[in-house]
Amino acid sequence: MDILKVRSLSKSFGPIKAVSSVDMDIKQGSITALIGPNGAGKTTTFNMITGFMKPDAGRVFFAGKDITAWPAYRVARLGLVRTFQRLEVFKEMSVLDNVKIASLGISMQGLMRSMFRPPSYVREESKALEISVNALVDVGLKDSMHKPAGLLTFGQLRLLEIARVLATGASMMLLDEPAAGLNSVEVEGFATLMKDIRARGITIFLIDHDMKLVMDISDMVIVLDQGVRIASGRPEEVRTEPRVIEAYLGA
Ligand SMILES: Nc1ncnc2c1ncn2[C@@H]1O[C@H](COP(=O)(O)OP(=O)(O)OP(=O)(O)O)[C@@H](O)[C@H]1O
Ligand SMILES: [Mg+2]
Repeated sequence: MDILKVRSLSKSFGPIKAVSSVDMDIKQGSITALIGPNGAGKTTTFNMITGFMKPDAGRVFFAGKDITAWPAYRVARLGLVRTFQRLEVFKEMSVLDNVKIASLGISMQGLMRSMFRPPSYVREESKALEISVNALVDVGLKDSMHKPAGLLTFGQLRLLEIARVLATGASMMLLDEPAAGLNSVEVEGFATLMKDIRARGITIFLIDHDMKLVMDISDMVIVLDQGVRIASGRPEEVRTEPRVIEAYLGA
């Protein structure tokens, strides 16, 4: 079953056609990589799918619902959660609290309730604690959970980012360059983590420039170049496509 369908998605910035009439079908429980040279329109595509940017045209369907131009918080509530190309963590807060915030969902209402602490909030908070600890166990950060996030290594911060998505209970995660800056040992660990998450039925859609990683973990690869989808298919099919080789050599 396709959990995500994108039809004729388009976005321009002035004269730049960042994304041009892109179609995508993503199977539930798969790992799909979105690749392409710098400026190909990958992040813009993620922004439109997750409600951070309104498309000029086209539609996005997630879990059978037309979510086109829904606000990001509603998309996330439906189970489609993304990370950003730039790491965003609260450095002074503990690793655990960073995850708990994601699990509870940050909203004004949430902040008010956390101050007045009605019984329903206390229940939610203890549930969030359990979920967050589990997410940290999953990514291998349990031993660091009481440290301030600012003390984590770069590689650990990348894992914290994944833990935060897991703690939201997402059924599909969109990861924008989640392995950027990792060393080769960390990349191997990351690949294993992605496969573990897939084994639970969670759908993964990730942008990455590390071709070895992409070829290793992906069930499907979609290639963008200058806003246009120039190829899509299994990794071994896509890597030999002349248009893909040309796009990479040209870049
Ligand atoms: N908010 C914006 N305003 C104007 N132009 C933008 C904006 N966001 C992206 N662009 C332009 O749209 C094009 C696609 O950018 P995008 O960030 O989607 O590329 P990308 O594939 O994610 O690249 P990278 O691999 O470098 O992250 C680029 O030409 C970029 O300069
Ligand atoms: Mg990008």
